[in-house]
Amino acid sequence: MRAFVTRDLPAAALDRIRAVAETDVWPEPGPPPAAALRERVRDADGLLCLLTDAVDEELLACAPRLRVVSQMAVGIDNIDVAACARRGIVVGNTPGVLTETTADLAFALLMAAARRLGEAERDLRAGRWGAWSPLLYAGADIHHATLGIVGMGRIGFEMARRARGFDMRILYTSPRPCPDAERDLSARRVTLDETLRESDFVSLHCPLTPATRGLISARELAAMKPTAVLVNAARGAVVDQRALYEALRDGRIAAAGLDVYESEPLPMDDPLLTLENVVLAPHIGSASVATRTRMAMIAANNLVAGLQCRPLPHAVAPRSP
Ligand code: DGY
Repeated sequence: MRAFVTRDLPAAALDRIRAVAETDVWPEPGPPPAAALRERVRDADGLLCLLTDAVDEELLACAPRLRVVSQMAVGIDNIDVAACARRGIVVGNTPGVLTETTADLAFALLMAAARRLGEAERDLRAGRWGAWSPLLYAGADIHHATLGIVGMGRIGFEMARRARGFDMRILYTSPRPCPDAERDLSARRVTLDETLRESDFVSLHCPLTPATRGLISARELAAMKPTAVLVNAARGAVVDQRALYEALRDGRIAAAGLDVYESEPLPMDDPLLTLENVVLAPHIGSASVATRTRMAMIAANNLVAGLQCRPLPHAVAPRSP
């Protein structure tokens, strides 16, 4: 059996795969270009990929032997899961293991944006730190403020749990109610509009689907308080990035903390880079050594299970239309 792995992984994960399959690992630090990916999957029975690799009809058509696609991420918007299902290819991902690490980062972005840490650090490093003065770098209080969660799944819940430690009030909007959040965190389920209108901080935790693409655009940003902060550690395309830039530039919302973008890496001519009131992280939500190592092991285990025609420990079901 043959496996193609699109990036170098921690040794234990590669050893796990090598124990059952002849394993080809993409040798470069960046993702394989589409043509190279098509070439490498030609005789592969299994593919271990990252969210930077497009697994679409075109790729699958080049991979007649493929029986498993194992994604080292929880988000699977780069994979056409329905097309995989039509070809009898099973898909796995890495849910659960990155929940708290990602919530930690989302909360860090919330705090950094609220307290203007990016701007303050840039000034300090550039020698622009003047004398202490009453409103220098004065930002927004986090404690006792209202946090609106968009998408109360695992990560949204953990974000809300962190917020309760700061005595925040929690509103949320989600397709389904979350009784645990209502019981344990006193969270209240409201509409998206009410979440936007009432919250001091709005944090996005929904997957990218046709229904959530562009969910936060000019209208939604206009509904937010002018003092509000938007946090996005979900997927960039959930937000209309141009509309967000304009809202931040014009002071229609106060600040944003972003880990994800419509196009990644963020192009260096993106206008967001000209703004002081946005904290920008390079998609590092799950980037702790322990979590990334666990994700790699889960992805390896999913791949091996698929190669051996066993049920995947973490299989992704195709979305119902
Ligand atoms: C995911 O898993 O979907 C994150 O975006 C990367 O960890």
